[in-house]
Amino acid sequence: MNETEKQYPFLRACRREPTEYTPIWLMRQAGRYLKDYRALRKKYSFLEMCKNPELVAQVTLQPIEKFKLDAAIIFSDILISLEPMGVEFQFAKGEGPVFHHPLREKRDVEKLRIFEPEEEIPYLVKAIQIVRKELEGKIPLIGFCGAPFTLASYVIEGGHSKNYILTKGMMYQDRGTWNTLMEKISQVLIRYLNAQIRSGVQAVQLFDSWVGCLSPTDYKEYVLPYSKRIIEGVASGVPLIHFATSSSTLLEMMKRAGGDVIGVDWRVNLAEAWACLGYDIAIQGNLDPVILLSGPDLIEKEVKRILEEAGGRPGHIFNLGHGILPNTPAENVAFLVEAVHRYSSRREII
Ligand code: CP3
Repeated sequence: MNETEKQYPFLRACRREPTEYTPIWLMRQAGRYLKDYRALRKKYSFLEMCKNPELVAQVTLQPIEKFKLDAAIIFSDILISLEPMGVEFQFAKGEGPVFHHPLREKRDVEKLRIFEPEEEIPYLVKAIQIVRKELEGKIPLIGFCGAPFTLASYVIEGGHSKNYILTKGMMYQDRGTWNTLMEKISQVLIRYLNAQIRSGVQAVQLFDSWVGCLSPTDYKEYVLPYSKRIIEGVASGVPLIHFATSSSTLLEMMKRAGGDVIGVDWRVNLAEAWACLGYDIAIQGNLDPVILLSGPDLIEKEVKRILEEAGGRPGHIFNLGHGILPNTPAENVAFLVEAVHRYSSRREII
């Protein structure tokens, strides 16, 4: 890490070092709420965009040009890592991802391929290199992947799920197949994150978006060993953010699985979540994305509340509790970023 990188507020906060102001970035900060993104989407499908390095770079940088964000996140999707494993899916209009051949039997899972990302996903490597050049000396770039439970739920259910009946069905009733699936996904994700790091990302986030549907006991038994293995397998020195939603009862287990930062959603009080995690770990969150559909007064009130809950401790990264919603007005995002910087910079540096 060079001297400039050491000083980036986002990376400093990941290491729980004091910063002049609280850094902020937003999950799904590149996307449909931006009119430049919507204009490009008229010409290309979402997956076409993900596979074209120049377009990925362009879309990654769109929110950076508009707002004073403290980190960029590479434009891609958690499902991209599944395709070279032999899993086929599509983004159906208005429906989200649809998998044509969900994996439910041992023989399906045994066919999954472990692959080398530099060979099979060269467009991601190229895109990261382009974005890094553009961002040099400005802000750091975050890479990411889905966590094994969240990815397993997509391939088993065949898309998004409400009750995770088939996923839990495999977990509870076909332990051997579950273990093989989680094992294979984990091996791929270790390679996938390290390839992103070799290409230039300066931090990574593990998205376990749907793991909040599990009890702490089941998390510990069926998920923790795999998430832990991935986190331990990621190149050292690169901060890792471990994120989940509906995770208030899982925080201690998530910390045990690992990560430098735990990402929490709005369903928990940030002060309570941090107290529960302990102050030897950084925290990210946790504005309700729906607040961004309101206006400056409410946004300001919530910014102040969350910053107060963080108590001026080093190691808070401001973010939403989940991805930004497509109908969010861009001016509210600008206001939010500015408000977080303004209110947090009043504090004395310890
Ligand atoms: O944060 C960023 O700006 C980076 C890009 C990013 C996308 N998806 C782009 C995207 C990231 C980090 C993701 C992660 C992702 N993808 C998650 C984990 C985070 C979360 O929101 O829980 C999940 C579960 C997915 C899977 C996924 N991708 C779904 C369910 C959908 C359809 C629903 C939706 O939001 O559209 C997507 C599509 C997707 N991923 C879009 C974008 C910009 C929309 C594509 C479009 O229609 O233009």
